[in-house]
Order: sequence, then structure tokens, then C-alpha cells
Amino acid sequence: MKLVAGNSNRPLAEAISAYLNVPLAKAQVRRFADMEVFVEIQENVRGEDVFIIQSTSFPTNDHLMELLIITDALRRASARRITAVIPYFGYARQDRKPAARTPISAKLVANIIAHAGVDRVLTLDLHAGQIQGFFDIPTDNLFAAPTLARDIKDHLDSGNRMVVSPDVGGVVRARALAKRIDAPLAIVDKRRERPGESEVMNIIGDVSGRSCILVDDIIDSGGTLVNAADALLANGAKEVSAYITHGVLSGGAVARIAGSRLKELVITDSIMPTEAVKVAHNIRVISIAPLMGEAIGRTATESSVSSLFD
Ligand code: R5P
Repeated sequence: MKLVAGNSNRPLAEAISAYLNVPLAKAQVRRFADMEVFVEIQENVRGEDVFIIQSTSFPTNDHLMELLIITDALRRASARRITAVIPYFGYARQDRKPAARTPISAKLVANIIAHAGVDRVLTLDLHAGQIQGFFDIPTDNLFAAPTLARDIKDHLDSGNRMVVSPDVGGVVRARALAKRIDAPLAIVDKRRERPGESEVMNIIGDVSGRSCILVDDIIDSGGTLVNAADALLANGAKEVSAYITHGVLSGGAVARIAGSRLKELVITDSIMPTEAVKVAHNIRVISIAPLMGEAIGRTATESSVSSLFD
């Protein structure tokens, strides 16, 4: 078994390597002067079961291209099986046609990855579960929920916890976490009553006096989260924290979170945290390296991955 790291999240790849006690394979992933990606695998991989660890996070296209070119290098070097370990799968939000003449980019990217020569995919908290079916190769979609639930139990008082989905689309995910920590569920329902009027936030469920835990798969601009936190506090919540798997955190998101009334935002290291994230007073990063490492180990030994979530 070999582990190969792209450049998207070297610290996570190193943590997975430490968990498995398997060193990262010697490989160079670098750029020509014009920024073309060049890959050189510097050790023998013939007949090996190889796992490429690469999130397709910002800069998404560069990291996707690295993944494809690493795959090509491994395939031409006669690797026996290539698994793309993609903790954060970029383009996942483009999973359907929201309007006429728009693409389904998540499917396109899945096709490209399989076509490049990847045999299996291992990913985490896909934006929508059905994206798993976009890949015509075996794909395991891991859940961060057990990792998040453990952290919630360690950090938040069990008495008055309430899990909240920040929009109707995230209810299934939030309900699964609520079940794990034995907490009730509330939902933020965003509605534009009339065209041209601003959105109204209705809260489904009684949040007064509760320690609310907002749960989502992605935080990007932070708008969804900060607005939901304000609506919960306006409806009498005692405090609001958030547990979100993928900290995309584009543009001014970190400053928006720091300046918000959120007690704490907890994200995973599926995307490499920036310096701004590391120093933010109300953002904490927990590692999914043990979860990814365990799933890689089980894939290599052909044992059950789903039983990780029983
Ligand atoms: C949307 O469906 C996702 O689950 C997130 O709610 C969304 O991507 C968050 O985006 P932002 O932080 O920009 O509001």
C-alpha cells in the first residue's frame, strides 16, 4: 500500500500517514514556469494499492488537475489499484440544473476523475448523497458525524442542546447528528414572501433558552451561518455554536465569523486551514485524519467501511 499526497492539504496527508504508520511515497508535484502541473513519482509503485490524498479545494481547478495528473503518472507506472481520497470534493454544489442551460459540473468532474484512471473514490460528507452515484466506480462517502458528535459531547452541556439545520435542504444531515447526541431538532426556514423583499427567517421549533448547534456540510461566505445564528438569538436561543464539515471560508468569511455572535465555529481539516482560520478567536479545527486513515486501512484490507458508522 502506498500513500501519495497532492499539494492541497499536506498536513492532513501527514496525519493520515502517521495514523496508518505508512510513510508518504516520495513524489514531486510541482509547476513549470507557466504553472503547468508536473508530477514525478520517485519510487516504485508497480502492482501497489495506491491512495492519492487530495481535496479539490481552493484553488479548485489547480488541485483537481494535480489529482488527475498524479493519477495518470501512477497508472502509467503500473499501480494495481488507484483510490482517490478526496476529503473535500469541490464542484459538489453543482449537482443539478438550477435553471435551463446550466451544467451539472459535479457529474462532469466525477466523469473526468474516473476517466483519468481512478479505480475507487473515498470522500467525506458529500454535499448531496446522490453525488456518490455520479461516479461509475466504487465510491465511499464517509460521515464526519461521529467525529463531530464526540466533540459536541466533550464541549457542550448535554442539558439543553438543540441541533439546528440552517436551511430546509440540510435537515437529513442535521437530524442524523441530533439522533447521535440525543438532542431535539429545529430548522431555519428562509422565505422570500414577495419578489424584491428581503428573506424572512422563520424558526421551526422552540429554541428559547437552548444551546443551539447549527450543522451544515459547507461554510463558504459564512452568510448562511451568521444569518441563522442571528435569527436563533432573536428567537431566544441562549447561545449558538456551529459544527460544519468543510471550512471553505472564501473571501471575508473568517472576519465575518469573528465579528458574529457565534460562540464557536468548529470545522474539520478536510480543507487545509489558512493562517486566518488558525488565529480566529471563535474558530476551532478538529481532525478527520483518524477517520480517513481508518477507512483507507479498511479499503486496503478489503474490510467493511460502513461498519465505521454503526
Ligand atoms: C448549501 O446548500 C450548503 O449546504 C451551505 O449551506 C452553503 O454552501 C453555505 O454557503 P455560505 O457560507 O456562502 O452561505
